[in-house]
Amino acid sequence: MSRRIAAALALSVLPVTPTATPPNLDFESCDTAGWAVTGDAFSVTRETTWWGGTFDQHGVCFLSGYLANQDKATGTARSSTFPATDELSFLIGGGYDPQNLYVELVRAADGQVLDRQTGWNSEQLARITWDTSAVRGQSVYLEAVDTATGGWGHLNLDDVRTTNVDDAGNGLTARKLGSARQPATGPAPARYAADPLRPQYHYTPYQGWINDPIGLIQFNGQYNLFAQYYPDAPFWGPMHWAHARSADGVHWTNLPVALTPPPPATPSDTTGEWSGSAVDDNGVLRLFYTHFTDTGAHPGATPEQVFTATSADGVTFTPSPANPVIAAPPADSEAGFRDPKVFRDPHDGLWKMVVGSGHNGHGEVHLYSSPDLRTWTYRGVLLAGDGSTGGMWECPNLIPVGGQWALLVSENGTEHYFLGDFDGSTFTPRTSGQLDAGPNFYAAQAFVDASGRPLVMGWMNNGGAFDPNRLDGWSQSETVTRVLSVESDGTLGTAPVPELSRLHTSLAAHNGVRVIRQDTPIAAGDSLDINTGFDLTRSTGTSLGLRLFSSSAEGVVLTYDPASHQLTLDTRNSGYGGGSVSTAAVSPDATGQLGLRVLTDRSSIEVFTSTGVALTARVYPRYTQSNTVSAFAVGGNAVLTGTTVWSMGSAW
Ligand code: FRU
Repeated sequence: MSRRIAAALALSVLPVTPTATPPNLDFESCDTAGWAVTGDAFSVTRETTWWGGTFDQHGVCFLSGYLANQDKATGTARSSTFPATDELSFLIGGGYDPQNLYVELVRAADGQVLDRQTGWNSEQLARITWDTSAVRGQSVYLEAVDTATGGWGHLNLDDVRTTNVDDAGNGLTARKLGSARQPATGPAPARYAADPLRPQYHYTPYQGWINDPIGLIQFNGQYNLFAQYYPDAPFWGPMHWAHARSADGVHWTNLPVALTPPPPATPSDTTGEWSGSAVDDNGVLRLFYTHFTDTGAHPGATPEQVFTATSADGVTFTPSPANPVIAAPPADSEAGFRDPKVFRDPHDGLWKMVVGSGHNGHGEVHLYSSPDLRTWTYRGVLLAGDGSTGGMWECPNLIPVGGQWALLVSENGTEHYFLGDFDGSTFTPRTSGQLDAGPNFYAAQAFVDASGRPLVMGWMNNGGAFDPNRLDGWSQSETVTRVLSVESDGTLGTAPVPELSRLHTSLAAHNGVRVIRQDTPIAAGDSLDINTGFDLTRSTGTSLGLRLFSSSAEGVVLTYDPASHQLTLDTRNSGYGGGSVSTAAVSPDATGQLGLRVLTDRSSIEVFTSTGVALTARVYPRYTQSNTVSAFAVGGNAVLTGTTVWSMGSAW
């Protein structure tokens, strides 16, 4: 029996008088009246901001586990007892630690813990809702527990409600977050659909954390997607390789974890199998990857080495007994040595490997070659940055696109590309740019599929700590698969794979040319494929745009300024999280049209222009009504070209 349940049982022998309207559940008396407090962690505060943003409390005051005595303090705060209704909800913020930081609902009669929720490493409060209908009428209490003393060792709580919060106070319905709402069994599409902010046709982990998409390959006809994966918590940790497969490139089936890290030597050992790539080795699926050794737990070890693993059935992988394939970086690679990307080079028929690195304040890509995928020869530095693109380049890719070669590198949140010539040994860049101008595209992997198309997928990271998906036990997503192309202006562009249309379920809007003067709704839904555009030869507005995930309280604004040719994605008022403003230079096409394709998926946005520019962002709308797409014009009208909007189905 746990300490918590035992303590609750001991107390349950005391006479309990449940009050129908428990006092001060919202802390609006601005003290802990009505709560039994132990220890020195919890106090009530009126603070509205912390150094990085707003707490977003309800009303004036909330219960803080930090402001009195910071992270080191411990304690509990227990409400008075009250009869359970059908639903209980509260706002929670603070650290993620299921063992030491949580709010729990306890049945007074026997001390049984009915539900429990930890924080999400965010100061911003988010609402958790529990279905309590099974214990309706029974006497319960809520307790905040903090036995954590390290970083993020605190929990914040506010606005506990025993009535349904369908009315969030502004006439809107708050989304119901919380892992308790995710059924653990049943078919994948239903489980994924039950989670209100989980993308439905983008790859996400059912539980835990993912980052880079890796090992992308069409093997025996099937598209394979692996991902950097930590199954135990919605945070980065000792890396595994998750694995999924798709016959058509858009419907995915989860497969067993392909690579697992060695057992940790210490509790904080983050040794794991980092990013890499896949090749077809005469019918065997072969992975090349970074074996990362945490030198904190293994002093003196080489931190990053190239390893290989093979699978005859494409599902079960065995690391090679000959590992490491490359035991140590070449000289002058002090900033890192990782993310081997292997491909067959048509120039000389050899296998080539590019590896990310950095030296003397600039990023670098190393080139290796092999006749047989077994022995590798170092060929030198393929490209060195000038320092303006950071001191370390991760996740390099070298891929033929439109008669040229594209080198992609990831650096500190930005995906850079260089476009130029490659002769088998030397890469000569002609142009460079950013593959995606939005805030949340990183660690892309490119590959050539069986039909010869250069494809790319990126990690749709969330760029910071604001991630309400963590309250549902998982974190991060991959983008859709995109086709790479060289655009008419010489830039490297992307567009979603045409196969995405297989996910269209029903037509959400279909209109011919329309003249818009003010905000005009064009469709509704939270997983949409929106195809529209502006006729710039006839629009008179000084600013034209679309509102996405929009309601009276919040929304994302995509604005085009025809004078400056700037496309701006503003997610600052899109729901949970801080949001940001991103801009891209976008010229209309030769006929004066700006075509826009926007993919929305519950908490993601991918914008594509007809000229190949992409902007990707994660957003977390708070309200179920935040699902309107509208078009607008300021200072004149907007002539919308034909609009077709499809509702999207599940990829699972
Ligand atoms: C990029 C990256 C890679 C590394 C992996 C670790 O996001 O840092 O360089 O291999 O993630 O998870």
